[in-house]
Amino acid sequence: MYRSHTSGELRAANIGQEVTLAGWVQRSRDLGGMTFVDLRDRYGITQLAFNLEENADLCLQARKLGREFVIQAKGTVIERSSKNANLPTGDIEIKVSELTILNAAKTPPFTIEDETDGGDELRAQYRYLDLRRNPVQQKLQLRNRVALETRKYLDAQGFWDVETPYLIKSTPEGARDFVVPSRMNQGEFYALPQSPQTFKQLLMVSGFDRYYQIVKCFRDEDLRADRQPEFTQIDCEMAFVEQEDILNTFEGLVKHLFREVKGVEFEGACPRMDYAEAMAKYGSDKPDIRFGMEFADLKAATAGKDFVVFDSAEAVIGIAVPGASEYTRKQLDEITEWVKRPQIGAKGLVYVKCNADGTFKSSVDKFYDEAALKVWAELTGAKAGDLIFVLSGDLDKTRKQMNELRLRMGTELDLRDPNKFAPLWVLDFPLLEWDEDSERYHAMHHPFTSPKPEDFELITTEPGKVRANAYDLAMNGVELGGGSIRIHDRDLQARMFELLGFTPEQAQEQFGFLMNAFEFGAPPHGGLAFGLDRLVATMGGSDSIRDYIAFPKNNSGRDVMIDAPAPIDAAQLKELGIDVK
Ligand code: AMO
Repeated sequence: MYRSHTSGELRAANIGQEVTLAGWVQRSRDLGGMTFVDLRDRYGITQLAFNLEENADLCLQARKLGREFVIQAKGTVIERSSKNANLPTGDIEIKVSELTILNAAKTPPFTIEDETDGGDELRAQYRYLDLRRNPVQQKLQLRNRVALETRKYLDAQGFWDVETPYLIKSTPEGARDFVVPSRMNQGEFYALPQSPQTFKQLLMVSGFDRYYQIVKCFRDEDLRADRQPEFTQIDCEMAFVEQEDILNTFEGLVKHLFREVKGVEFEGACPRMDYAEAMAKYGSDKPDIRFGMEFADLKAATAGKDFVVFDSAEAVIGIAVPGASEYTRKQLDEITEWVKRPQIGAKGLVYVKCNADGTFKSSVDKFYDEAALKVWAELTGAKAGDLIFVLSGDLDKTRKQMNELRLRMGTELDLRDPNKFAPLWVLDFPLLEWDEDSERYHAMHHPFTSPKPEDFELITTEPGKVRANAYDLAMNGVELGGGSIRIHDRDLQARMFELLGFTPEQAQEQFGFLMNAFEFGAPPHGGLAFGLDRLVATMGGSDSIRDYIAFPKNNSGRDVMIDAPAPIDAAQLKELGIDVK
């Protein structure tokens, strides 16, 4: 046995015991007569004490220990003369009688401390050292707990964990596929699954009734703080269910996770909002409802005063920013420049200061008098001391821009408390989405999503208006998960592929296996998938999922630690029958 206890375990009650500890040297302090070494492992830090007078050899040996040396120390637990209240083991130290160096270490490229001096790039390159740091380990511990509690909950609900293949044919989830060449079938490629979507539906046809899997998914898309090329889903499917059953089951999962892992209770049912309302009020299908600043439609109220910008716009949208009427000219200019950046794309920004004395001052005083501005204040809900921002233009674009501005102001005014969690079901997503580039409809969720029966008739006349039995769970402005009730009828599925621009031959070629399966008795079914990385990051109060993944990729999709992707050698290419241009 390398150790009798961990480095986080010993307390005053252990005083007098003979113990053996093993771990890494966090740091050592040489105070002349005494040398102290902080010994670290996953469980904590324990101080080792070496007395020069009592055991000179051992003390001199201890003085030579460098940072991150792996050592084993035997000794007696004694009371510490100067206690450290910040450390759980701070009442004791080990009076060491035997020291073994298990492995010497080079000086690490950055300090392995809670607050490290290492930059992002360096820490990514030495991710295994970054992972030694306590705050990073805590994030992965949180992930472990969420995964474990997920399994417990779903198991208790009768879900079976079933693995599905990684080497498959393309699943259309809207991103590009990662592909893998086949040596045995030259010129042919597997696609890595963007999700196990079709397989979990087939498991329903097979009668598995309730399926789940904590599973890697692969999508070749542009990366952001909440997107990785390989990420993990809690993927679920249920047979003989309607939307309501699914919402209840997975609301139960979310409540279970927050209760068990965070000690947070969600009272009552999770709020719900349909997609149309979410877009009108927040300009987003994943609204952050921790704070207000809801959109107000100012189109009618602004019309007819000769302000061409608003009169010619499809939409004029305002929000009331609480307590911001005293923003300076400089602050307002900066925000105006910010909304005009290409990433946001607004043409300009109109503001109204609702002064504390009840008067108004706006950037469009030439066109709108106090009485008009008062109406804007009523519509946006602005009170004395608030600031109104107004954006205008094309409806969809203006909503998107205002969403960005609302989130920015929420952050700036500290209204997005990371310790507050605001879940929201967003329901009734449109079935289809018009794609300007390819000039055809795309499935908004995926092509297996069932239209709402009451909207069936619109499919031929106004496909863009058809709503789907599709739902997302949003929390704090993040899409944590989404799913739908599926089509389980061959003809309807074929009709759907046709709407999406597939010829019957193409549909048969790509999805024949699924449509054929539907002819052998497919139960009504539906499901959803949570993004585990996003769920854990949100629970941890962070926007970035990378910290919650042991070995993540950078924004260019590279793993800089193992240096992947990388070229392969000519022999390997030849074997695969591939020429690289
Ligand atoms: P969807 O495509 O909405 O649905 O994905 C489900 C959830 O997975 C997470 N997610 C991601 N997380 C990190 N990086 C990414 N690149 C990434 N892409 C998606 C999100 C998202 O809500 N098969 C359907 C589910 C179903 O219909 O049952 C699907 O994959 O949190």
